[in-house]
Parts: sequence; structure tokens; C-alpha cells
Amino acid sequence: MDRKLDELLFALMQNMTLTVSGEKLAKDLRVSHSTLVRWIEKLRAAGIEIHGELFTGYRLVRLPDVLLPQVIRPRLHTRIIGRNLYHFYDVDSTNSFAARLIAHGRKVPEGTVIIAEAQTAGRGRLGRSWHSRREAGLYFSMVLFPKAPPSLAPLFTLATAVAMHNAVERYTGLDIDIKWPNDLLTGQKKICGILSEIQAEVDLVKTMIIGVGLNANHEELPEDIAGRATSLRIASGHIQSRLEILLEFFEEFETIYMDFERKGPRSIVDQWTRFSSFANGRKIEIHDGVRKITGITRGLNPLGALKIEQKGGQIEEVYSGDVASWE
Ligand code: BTN
Repeated sequence: MDRKLDELLFALMQNMTLTVSGEKLAKDLRVSHSTLVRWIEKLRAAGIEIHGELFTGYRLVRLPDVLLPQVIRPRLHTRIIGRNLYHFYDVDSTNSFAARLIAHGRKVPEGTVIIAEAQTAGRGRLGRSWHSRREAGLYFSMVLFPKAPPSLAPLFTLATAVAMHNAVERYTGLDIDIKWPNDLLTGQKKICGILSEIQAEVDLVKTMIIGVGLNANHEELPEDIAGRATSLRIASGHIQSRLEILLEFFEEFETIYMDFERKGPRSIVDQWTRFSSFANGRKIEIHDGVRKITGITRGLNPLGALKIEQKGGQIEEVYSGDVASWE
């Protein structure tokens, strides 16, 4: 259904400043007048400003900030990431949609990306929800089939953080830090979170879904998270292009992902360590779901676990958890 809306919106965008006759649109899209009217209403409900009606014709009021596959595809320089795209105006969660695609046995090529303009049930790590307002953020999930055992799966989440770090820094010029394991911060506040979910056999990851939520153009964040989260727009003082950042990210991620296949985990661990101020010498407290671990960070082990030097000098290697506080 959303693919049809994309076709209609793309047709309107091709004639940006002009009024396009409803008759012609319906004919080009091979649909009835009543279907066209229904689709226009759906686009309007998704926040796209369209003037006019069937008999006067339709005109876009402003260029909408919508991540249309028709706009993304011609600009892709990747081999696998984003080559197969799904785009939604509304979905519950792009990670959940990806999981449903796989569960229903649909053919999902590696690198498939699901993008949503808004999520009605965006999910964060550790059972939290993810604020997913329309147009403000970038919400997408990638489907991967890494040839790796489950013990290496966290590396791909770190790789995603590195790729988004590089894309955002390059495009916005902001200083971005990576908080272990995979939150992106600017000025100590969170701008991006990553939710990875895997299906695995004992010795092989069958499917990995990596979901990314980037606070791009929020003018403000909900009160309950405003103290610890921000957006690129707030931090930089101007609107940022979600499209440009997404395209940069696809290329960055693909390079790191392909490097993994050729060279193994080393380059992911090295890059993460280079770009994260949390890698070394930070005093932190981590909750791993069972325990609290406090100490000084001493880099990553080759599998991407964070090494923490505890009071007595012993090193604890932590694979997952949440940094509760840091200095
Ligand atoms: C976190 O808690 O930091 C992870 C947030 C991940 C949010 C993204 S938005 C796109 C994808 N779909 C979801 O439901 N969650 C992830």
C-alpha cells in the first residue's frame, strides 16, 4: 500500500510547483478517481501538504521531507545495503516488520532496509520504547546474514555505531562520541540508539536485524528524555537532511561490513576504540541485567566486550549492558 503512496507522491514531486490534473494522475497511476482521492487523503494524514481536489488538480505546497525509495535508489553507491527497500509512512516498528518478513518466509535479500517516517510502537533496548515522531527522526532497520557465530554478533552493532558516527560527523560537522556499547552522543546527550536482534543457531547467526533511531530534526524532545537526549537540529542550530545522512551511513556501513568479511573483527574494534571516549580511562558503572560493575575502562577485547578494571585490579569483560553513570 505504501508503495502506491510513494508513486503518487513522486509524481507530485516531479511537478513540484505545478498543479497536476487529477485525471492525469489517476491515469498515470492506473487507478480510479476514488482511489486517487483516498490516497491523497492518506498522504495528507501523513502530514504532506497538498492543495486542491480531484477536479481542480493537485499541487504540493512544499517539498516534503520523505525518504522515498524513488529518491534514494538513484543515489545509492552500495552493493547490498539499501538495494532492497521498504518504505512506510507509519509502521509499528521497522525491526518488528523485518522480523515478520523473515518469519513469513518472504525472500529477504541481505542488506534489505526498512524505513519508516513514523513508528507507532518504536522499540528501544532493554524493553524501552523509542520516541518516533514523523519527519523528526530517521528510523530504519537493516537485515543481515553475517557469516559469523553468535559470539561475534555484538561486533555488528558496534560497526553500526561507527558507521553512523562517521556519517553524522562528516555531514553535520558535529563532534560525536560513542557511548558503550552503541549510543551516539553529542555534548553528552544521546542522539542515536541502535537495537540489534538476532536469530541464531549454536554456531551461526541466521539473521540479524539492526534497527537505528537517529534524532535528526526534533525541535524539542519529550520532557521525560529531554535531560539526556537531543537532536542534530538542536545541537547544530539547523535542519539536517535525513536523506544525506542515510546515504552516507549506507556507504560507511557497507565498507565496514565488507572489511569484516575480509579481515575479521579487528578493524571494527579498532575504529570503535578510536571514536569512543568510553573506550579507555573512563570511570563507569554498568548494569548488565544481573550485576552492577564499576571500574575504569581498558579498551575492548577482540570480540567487542568492554574491559573494565575493577578496584582490586582484576579485569572484567562485559558483553552487554547499560552504562548507568560515567565520569
Ligand atoms: C536504544 O534503546 O537506544 C535503541 C533504539 C533503537 C530505535 C530504532 S528506530 C528503528 C528501529 N525500530 C525500532 O522499533 N527500534 C529501532
